[in-house]
Amino acid sequence: MAASFTFTHAICRTPSISSVDGLRAVDTGAPDLATFRAHHADYVAALRATGANVTLLDALEDFPDSTFVEDAALCLPKGAVIMRPGAPSRLGEAAAIRPAIEAAYGPHMRQISGPGHIEGGDILVTEREILVGKSARTDAAGVWELRAIVSDWGYTLRELQTPPDVLHFKTDCSLLDADTILTTRRLAASGCFDGYDLIYTEDGEDASANAIRFNDAVLFPAGFPRTAAALDRAGYNVVEIGNSEAAKLDGGMSCLSLRFSPPT
Ligand code: GLY
Repeated sequence: MAASFTFTHAICRTPSISSVDGLRAVDTGAPDLATFRAHHADYVAALRATGANVTLLDALEDFPDSTFVEDAALCLPKGAVIMRPGAPSRLGEAAAIRPAIEAAYGPHMRQISGPGHIEGGDILVTEREILVGKSARTDAAGVWELRAIVSDWGYTLRELQTPPDVLHFKTDCSLLDADTILTTRRLAASGCFDGYDLIYTEDGEDASANAIRFNDAVLFPAGFPRTAAALDRAGYNVVEIGNSEAAKLDGGMSCLSLRFSPPT
């Protein structure tokens, strides 16, 4: 079984009322909470429909971006790492996610202690390696500390650069299977995915690059019909989920869950 996209468990967190104050690069208006929660419920249901056990954590009003749980931890087959978010308003999310990770991973858990910063949105785990894009949220010191931890577990980490003005590395790419990555042309142009098979987002649909392969499904943001059709033609089971409200906070499919199979 491919550990990079086959999972028994996921963790999600209900969007908080305070999510209307979440971080955003460009203000296109506050998310509508009812719609955001309805989309989130669809997302959780889609994960569960694959047979996974999904833990839904309570909303955290002190942290407007905390529904984007992916940024606070990295879950790998051999262990989990609590991240150190680079956005000051998100730093406390690391402690908030810790109990849920500890419950799943027990002693197989480590923590980025700093002074560097790193967010899960900048990390793409493939079957071969762990790709980490430095960004406004993830710096060299954070990558260095993560490399030391995952090297202990036998993983290879490759340091890359997130394109300028792109929030996270995975804003622009997603793993589709052991060999295939969905990517924007602007990210792939760096050559960072040489050796992988690539499917490109269609012109004008770069905002669809953030999807997740989760067991037999590809959870994909609604509203990008040509890229969805390309994935369908390639044989993927595309499950479209509304993402209009999360997108106002620069959030996408990967941001909304931590996906893992606990170590045995
Ligand atoms: N609003 C999500 C983030 O900026 O981290």
